[in-house]
Amino acid sequence: MSAVEFLRPEGWLGVNGGPRYVQLRQRLEAGIEAGVLPPNSSLPPEREIAEITGLSRVTVRKAIQELVSEGLIEQRQGSGSFIRERVSRMEQSLSHLTSFTEDMAHRGMDTKSSWLERGVFLPSAQEISALDLPEGAEVARIYRLREAGGRPMALERAALPLDILPNPLEVTTSLYDVLDRLGHRPVRAIQKISAINLEPPEAKLLGVAEGAAGLSIERTSFLSSGRVVELTRSLYRGDAYDFVAELRL
Ligand code: GLP
Repeated sequence: MSAVEFLRPEGWLGVNGGPRYVQLRQRLEAGIEAGVLPPNSSLPPEREIAEITGLSRVTVRKAIQELVSEGLIEQRQGSGSFIRERVSRMEQSLSHLTSFTEDMAHRGMDTKSSWLERGVFLPSAQEISALDLPEGAEVARIYRLREAGGRPMALERAALPLDILPNPLEVTTSLYDVLDRLGHRPVRAIQKISAINLEPPEAKLLGVAEGAAGLSIERTSFLSSGRVVELTRSLYRGDAYDFVAELRL
């Protein structure tokens, strides 16, 4: 069935069905759910939906706006409204110090990293203070786009003292595996999570719209001696993750 046929008002739009924008919103939701309006397809323009349904453009706009806030529809400037691709949200525990590779393996997903930067650099002021680097020390940096199950999930920029990770090129898949081998796997970490809007370059790499919601997670992790192992900033797609913390009395 085409989107136009699906939106013909017979059978779903009625006087007793509640506010008309709600009825239209529900019809569009049903179309998305049933695959009549498949991911990445464009929604007929507002004017056309108004013509097919006999509703006013104001009503149509209101229904679409609600779907935009629900995250089902995305408005791309100059090219109209599109059905958003749905990523299944993942739950991520906030109490276990695990690596990205382990988290995904736990869910039966393969991971892939594309390298954006990997090498030895002069540290930034933030790295010097967070990693407690001595004067003149360099820093090992790795910056990756992390994918799971074929989908981009996060951008991750890690900085480590050079004596902890002398050769960043050794990291091919899992950083924590390499640290484990070197006897430097962290045992404790502090994480700071903040809500952000993804800037154009990051949004592009993550395959979401500019300004889309994301989560910034800064992890500082430590050896049992208390020494800092890594300072990592990860930008996660906001539509892919739910972070869950267990609280006890
Ligand atoms: C998570 C953490 C990072 C850590 C990474 C290691 O994503 N947020 O701080 O560096 O895991 O993952 P992997 O061992 O898969 O490279």
